[in-house]
Amino acid sequence: MNPTSFVAAAILLAGLVRGQGSVEYWHPPTKGDVRGPCPMLNSLANHGFLPHSGKGIKLNDTVHALEAALNINQDIATSLFGFAATTNPEPNATEFSLENLGRHNVLEHDASLSRADFDVTGDSVSFNRAAYDETRKYWTSDSITVKQAAVARLARYNTSQTTNPKYTMSPLGDRFSAGESAAYLFILGDISTATAPRKFVEYLFLNERLPTAVGWKKSSHVFTPTDLVTAIDLIYNATGASAEDLQKMRARSRRGEVHGGSLRY
Ligand code: HEM
Ligand SMILES: [Mg+2]
Repeated sequence: MNPTSFVAAAILLAGLVRGQGSVEYWHPPTKGDVRGPCPMLNSLANHGFLPHSGKGIKLNDTVHALEAALNINQDIATSLFGFAATTNPEPNATEFSLENLGRHNVLEHDASLSRADFDVTGDSVSFNRAAYDETRKYWTSDSITVKQAAVARLARYNTSQTTNPKYTMSPLGDRFSAGESAAYLFILGDISTATAPRKFVEYLFLNERLPTAVGWKKSSHVFTPTDLVTAIDLIYNATGASAEDLQKMRARSRRGEVHGGSLRY
């Protein structure tokens, strides 16, 4: 090893030993490591921004990872950590694992973009090609727009409702779902134009790795709760109503109470 690469390796290793992670370091999970249904948290564990094991993730790990890798502010990270801790079956937990996040109908919900429904395949955690292919069908340009993201999300809702007899979506699940579509668009894309390069988004989903190899860079914009609320509203507004409202509308329509309830594609 030449002196320059030795120094680079030493710096990288020092970072990993401190549990800091880096965009350069990336290693898929190995025996004993756990991963879950969130492609971004899986990626952050693969990069070492979160514990590579995917286990024992604490508030300070979450704040560090989201800030260091993605420039997401501490308020968002703290709030998401609070939700994540509820997936740990231990009462009053102060940590969670990526595996915990897969517990069905806590945060994990039906109609995911790249995962199957739990009651259909028994696995709502691993990447599912058919689900993902349906989602990406709606990403029809090199730059994914809010409208495309919103329509892709509702298409997955439609599929779940028609193929999963046990389909459920709580208000929290629906909000998370909208937040997830907002997140890939805004964290990987450009918050000012509300678009994301399709190649960045595809790279993340397919490789569970930050898409630096295809040109992504951490945004210089610090993401705040206000950004998140704005982004979620854009997703909801792009389809005319919240998916929850549309679901209720369809249920009433099935009972013959109203006609219509079609999605505004
Ligand atoms: C502590 C922070 C976070 C927590 C606790 C969390 C939790 C989750 C959970 C439980 C799911 C599964 C929902 C489902 O599809 O059933 C999920 C999915 C997802 N998350 Fe995260 N997440 C976090 C941060 C992020 C960030 C920063 C991004 C940025 C891009 C992100 C992007 C996504 C996307 C795109 C999905 C949808 C995957 C799919 O539908 O197949 N998440 N997240
Ligand atoms: Mg799911």
